[in-house]
Amino acid sequence: MGFNIAIDGPAGAGKSTIAKLVAARQNCIYVDTGAMYRGLAVHFLGKQIDPSDINAVIDACRDADVSIRYEDGMQQVYLNGTNITGQLRSEEVGDMASKTSAIPEVRTKLLELQRTMAREHDVVMDGRDIGTNILPDADVKIYLTASVETRAKRRFDELQAKGQECDLTKIQEDIRARDHRDMTRETAPLKQADDAVLVDSSDMNIEEVTDAILAICADKQKET
Ligand code: DC
Repeated sequence: MGFNIAIDGPAGAGKSTIAKLVAARQNCIYVDTGAMYRGLAVHFLGKQIDPSDINAVIDACRDADVSIRYEDGMQQVYLNGTNITGQLRSEEVGDMASKTSAIPEVRTKLLELQRTMAREHDVVMDGRDIGTNILPDADVKIYLTASVETRAKRRFDELQAKGQECDLTKIQEDIRARDHRDMTRETAPLKQADDAVLVDSSDMNIEEVTDAILAICADKQKET
């Protein structure tokens, strides 16, 4: 087992941005587990599966093979041998991923892939249940969050910068709905692990959050 850093938290807290920076500084690989759930979601959308039809989702899992490769240090998601990384970030895919990730069979399908990556490499892994369920013995556990208002504003600015039409109130509502779903599902809900350090990034910039997490890692590495 290498040195493993688990970063969990709600959508839009900045996990992936921060995790990438921490991984670069710690010489680890960055494992984005949300992208794996999104990979399966692309498969379900392609087969026009209704996410509320649990049996159909479970059935569709059987012919989905999600794998991860690194190309120029960037995580690439493959679905049945095709690189689908470019299709992962849409709202439609995120919504399907949030709904289907509540199904235990969907989670089981990805669990070994995530644990194997942590066994074979030093990783910064981000998601919802990494510290609580996937890597309960992770060396460092961070629960990264921010207020709904802050997360919605960041997403709004991001979409505006891309020139996309967006509505701040609608974004806030979507974030609240996604948080509710991720936190109240029965299997592996999003919650802070007892031994995770809470980092609230509402009033912090990217550099401050990264430095705070690197300082926690440095303390841990001194101990070991
Ligand atoms: O982090 P993200 O937005 O890319 O994740 C998409 C969805 O996948 C999210 O709504 C919940 C789910 N997910 C999960 O249940 N467990 C994880 N470890 C990562 C993501």
